[in-house]
Amino acid sequence: MTVFLNGKFMPIEEAKVPVLDRGFIFGDGIYELVPVYSRAPFRLEGHLARMERSLSEVQIPNPYSRAEWTRIIEQVIDKQPFDDQGVYWQVTRGVAKRDHAFPKDLQPTVFIMSNPLVNPSKDIVENGGKAVTSKDFRWHRCDLKTISLIGNCMLRQMSAEAGAVETLLFRDGRLTEASASNAYIVKDGVIATPPKDHLILPGITLDVVFDIVKRGNLPMEVREITEAEVFAADEVWVTSSSKEVVAIVEIDGKRIGAGKPGPVFRKAWQLYQDFKNEVMRAKRQAQAA
Ligand SMILES: Cc1ncc(COP(=O)(O)O)c(C=O)c1O
Repeated sequence: MTVFLNGKFMPIEEAKVPVLDRGFIFGDGIYELVPVYSRAPFRLEGHLARMERSLSEVQIPNPYSRAEWTRIIEQVIDKQPFDDQGVYWQVTRGVAKRDHAFPKDLQPTVFIMSNPLVNPSKDIVENGGKAVTSKDFRWHRCDLKTISLIGNCMLRQMSAEAGAVETLLFRDGRLTEASASNAYIVKDGVIATPPKDHLILPGITLDVVFDIVKRGNLPMEVREITEAEVFAADEVWVTSSSKEVVAIVEIDGKRIGAGKPGPVFRKAWQLYQDFKNEVMRAKRQAQAA
């Protein structure tokens, strides 16, 4: 696999970072993951905008312009032998003697790799998945996509140990998101999702959901959702760039709705697939024509 590290392309085995990199020492950095369909990155502008915001909020200087980022990411995509990819990149504050305060004039470390994009299995799409719940014990800046993910990893581990696909998170009795995805409920045909504030990651797939429900004329609202509402919902979904839309049919061993992916999920899933084929793959198809 060819990766990008600090201005150079190289085999992943040759990519090395000093142990004093603040990413290694403090988890002091930010990241992004963009899905790539038929070699075209989907909503790269949205991912770059979110990255710029993360960088600026944690005061790491952005080493590249948007045009430069786009060019480098396209080169990483071109160097892989597969068409559908998940391009992951991270920027850390750089290498310095260990000290909590931000050292001045550091050169940020930039690492980019790409893996095959693995979408949810047919079984998960058709039958849905299980979830468990937990208190959302993460910090209060979950809107930043930082590489300090130990909280999310601990939370995801809870569902992994239970053989479930996600951990749904509640803060003060209200749904925030899941360990690596945004969360939604459907009640009486209306989709609802919590507001984008400092307690959740503003998912790019969440924006895609807003677009597709508009296309399909499905009612959707943004509001606070209680734990009781989640258990009483007709449907529960989670979304992310790699999961797309997944129905949650059982939470903490309790059946949700009919215990199988519901009719609103089926519509949204189909709209997502149509959108992917018509819009996400469109650039490539236009080039091929
Ligand atoms: C905590 C969390 N929330 C939400 C998401 C969904 O974001 P996106 O749709 O941009 O993949 C992710 C994705 O990694 C995540 O880690």
